Amino acid sequence: MAISTRLGRRHQQRNYGFRAFLIRFSSKRVFRTIIISLAFIALVPPIFFLFKLKTFRLTQLRKCGWLNSPPLVCAHGGDSSSAFPNTIAAYHSALNSQVDCIEIDVSRSSDGVLLALHDRDLQRISGNNTSKVGHFSMKEIKDLGSMHQSAKFHDANIPTIEEALKLTSSSVRQVILDVKVGPPSYEKGLARDVLSVVERIQCTNCIIWAKSDSLARDVIRLSSDVMVGYIVMIDPLTGARTNLLRMRDARVVGVYHPLIDEKLVRILHGRNKKVYAWTVEDVNSMENMLSEHVDAVVTSNPTMLQGLMQDIRRQCLEHGFSLSE
Ligand SMILES: *[C@@H]1O[C@H](CO)[C@@H](O)[C@H](O)[C@H]1NC(C)=O
Ligand SMILES: *[C@@H]1O[C@H](CO)[C@@H](O)[C@H](O)[C@H]1NC(C)=O
Repeated sequence: MAISTRLGRRHQQRNYGFRAFLIRFSSKRVFRTIIISLAFIALVPPIFFLFKLKTFRLTQLRKCGWLNSPPLVCAHGGDSSSAFPNTIAAYHSALNSQVDCIEIDVSRSSDGVLLALHDRDLQRISGNNTSKVGHFSMKEIKDLGSMHQSAKFHDANIPTIEEALKLTSSSVRQVILDVKVGPPSYEKGLARDVLSVVERIQCTNCIIWAKSDSLARDVIRLSSDVMVGYIVMIDPLTGARTNLLRMRDARVVGVYHPLIDEKLVRILHGRNKKVYAWTVEDVNSMENMLSEHVDAVVTSNPTMLQGLMQDIRRQCLEHGFSLSE
């Protein structure tokens, strides 16, 4: 009996000890849980906020980063949203909207005169979809132009490259001469012809580019001063993109705009080449080109691009984007 009572008491004592231990343990656990919860409550919002801020900054940088070095606005054939492309009227219109640069198509007539004209424009003027500039003399083309002027378009006079450069080059930061190679003479003597006009006008802000690599290479060989570009596009024969890096001394690469992404720009900038996007006609593509930090955007509608750039600039500054981060 006595033994059993002692045993029972010991058992009870042990039991108390265990309960106290349980209480202590659970209060410790509650305490720990509370601390962890408090820490969690204290830390999560700032982390979440930082994360949001980072995302916001990245989005903002993508949308607004170009403001630190805006691309040149290049009018393709002048402002051809309001006038026939490559005419004095289209150039005037582009100069009035204070574009940074003008792209001029260059074709050679059968008697060797360089005209600001594209086969496509000639075909519209002549109403013959197989006409090529190289098959007509300068006089025949000028006559077509003035006939056309009285018929449908106002001031559709077709200027020579010399006239076009005299009118534009001192009023813009850059002029791109897009040299077209066509029958019957193709590249023969063409680089020399173009350079002789550029040198006569002393156009120090002229860039010469062409879809023909051999023409671009001829220009580089004949002149070390003038800036030369080559074109990256989808090869119509193979359906593949033409080589990105292929002319060491060309400082400019004219890229068909749907091909432009972050990687392409990084590679070309890494080789110290400027990226000029052509021909960007809709607002979405214009926004993309701004986000990708291209160096120039060639468009037939320069006022639309300028308007978009103004809108984005205003929004970015309103939302506290600070320049040169
Ligand atoms: C050119 O125009 C003719 C008639 O106007 C038409 O039959 C032909 O398909 C056109 N060719 C091209 C390449 O557009
Ligand atoms: C269109 O031009 C081609 C040469 O470029 C010529 O052979 C053809 O006769 C012309 N067509 C018309 C309808 O004038």
